[in-house]
Amino acid sequence: MPCILAFETSCDETAVAVVGADPNANGFAPQVLSSVVASQVELHAAYGGVVPEVASRQHVETLPFVLQAALEQTGLSVAAVDAIAVTCAPGLVGSLLVGLMGAKTLALLHDKPLIGVHHLEGHLFSGFLAAPDLQPPCLCLLVSGGHTSLIWMKDYGQYQTVGRTRDDAAGEAFDKVARLLGLGYPGGPQIDRWAQQGDPQRFPLPEGKLDHPYDTSFSGLKTAVLRLTQQLQAEGKELPVADIAASFQACLTRVLTEKAVACAEELGLSTLLLTGGVAANRELRARLRAAAAAKGLQVVIPPVAWCTDNAAMIGAAGLSHWLRGEISPLELGVASRMPLEGIPALYISAAEAQEP
Ligand code: KG4
Ligand code: ZN
Repeated sequence: MPCILAFETSCDETAVAVVGADPNANGFAPQVLSSVVASQVELHAAYGGVVPEVASRQHVETLPFVLQAALEQTGLSVAAVDAIAVTCAPGLVGSLLVGLMGAKTLALLHDKPLIGVHHLEGHLFSGFLAAPDLQPPCLCLLVSGGHTSLIWMKDYGQYQTVGRTRDDAAGEAFDKVARLLGLGYPGGPQIDRWAQQGDPQRFPLPEGKLDHPYDTSFSGLKTAVLRLTQQLQAEGKELPVADIAASFQACLTRVLTEKAVACAEELGLSTLLLTGGVAANRELRARLRAAAAAKGLQVVIPPVAWCTDNAAMIGAAGLSHWLRGEISPLELGVASRMPLEGIPALYISAAEAQEP
């Protein structure tokens, strides 16, 4: 079976996976043979957010051990894999470079093709890990600490971003509001937990209306929470943390759900995929499932381990390129930003790679 070794170091997770393709499956059916993730979240918690320099140093220290563990779990050596995939954009440049240099070194040492992967394309492929029958076209709501995008997957390798954030990403909004409420970092899981006991209707908050139907803006919502906390503190009241968390979460998840479902309907897409770290949010999962069911849409929400950053999704995306004969030149670099439209430029055909 074709087999890919994959690296992901674009932010604060050091991850390596081995992903194969099911030779008996009808369509594209990636199989995770191993997936190891070393999270740096505790290291960055002391600073209240990811510190890029600290992240890259930690990747350097951790990557060899994560690689060894991922290979050991499969019983395979690097010599046995067909290609090496690695996240090359977007992300923290120093962190991306650690993964890319590791991948290039192994590719050169073992004479294996290198496959650069766009991080967001990786997130899209978490859907294929969760639902082997998933087929494009579909609409993906990708919500993480760095991204809030609605991506129309027309076919493998063909994507169009149809909605994006104008300011804060959804996870960033969760983290900033959690900080205002004194809940620590990362804030999303804390808000999720506190909101369970809160009244989501106690504080009406602004939805951040825009002229574009599928773009989002959460900075107004965040500022409204700031003003609310300042006002309550000025009045000498104790912060009703659970009610504020519930009101904020209800507002943000309502906006995301309404936009995603309306967009899928307008594009005539019958499948919605939810992924990224914020896809762990219980209210968002429940709302999206209910709203999509009401419109007869199929919803795919991968298990949380595939929604947050991992190398299995990068391996799956890399595998799809490899199966189409697309590999990257060894001169491949990293980029802190790259639109999905930049993906084709990452690849050359295997025949081109052979040319002197
Ligand atoms: O995808 P991810 O692990 O990392 C990247 O940003 O690429 O996403 C992390 C984000 C953080 O902002 C975190 O607060 C948020 O996902 N998050 C959540 C939950 N779990 C993680 N947000 C809301 N509810 C959650 N349960
Ligand atoms: Zn991510």
